[in-house]
Amino acid sequence: MTKLQISLLAAALGLATSAAAQGDPVAGKARSIACSGCHGIPGTRAAFPDVYSVPKIGGQQAQYIVSALKSYKAGDRFSATMKGQASALSDKDMADVAAYYAGAPAQVAAKK
Ligand code: HEC
Repeated sequence: MTKLQISLLAAALGLATSAAAQGDPVAGKARSIACSGCHGIPGTRAAFPDVYSVPKIGGQQAQYIVSALKSYKAGDRFSATMKGQASALSDKDMADVAAYYAGAPAQVAAKK
């Protein structure tokens, strides 16, 4: 998918006016390599397809993703795993991965 297609998709989903829409989905895709082993999305290889307790974030609202990452980093929402992940991300990184995942296909939770 080209950057233009992703931008159009984001616009079509009504995300263009959200603050997180400033994120760059192409940079976010590169950043998401660290996330995709746990948060697999269709079209991206999931390392652990049977780990269903990891929330699906493909298709989630960009603002929700940024907000969740900030909460983990600040310690307002506790997860040892995600605190480690979110702490490594700058605000720009968060906006970028959020823009990428928001433009990714929506998912339903996999059943074991
Ligand atoms: C080692 C596995 C793992 C990796 C790697 C990982 N996550 Fe997570 N993530 C989790 C788990 C487990 C949770 C649920 C934590 C909880 O209970 O709050 C979670 C929760 C989240 C949530 C909240 C979802 C929701 O529905 O509320 C977001 C957003 C998120 N992760 C984004 C990311 C991003 C972006 C990356 C890469 C920078 C990443 N994660 C890397 C395991 C992982």
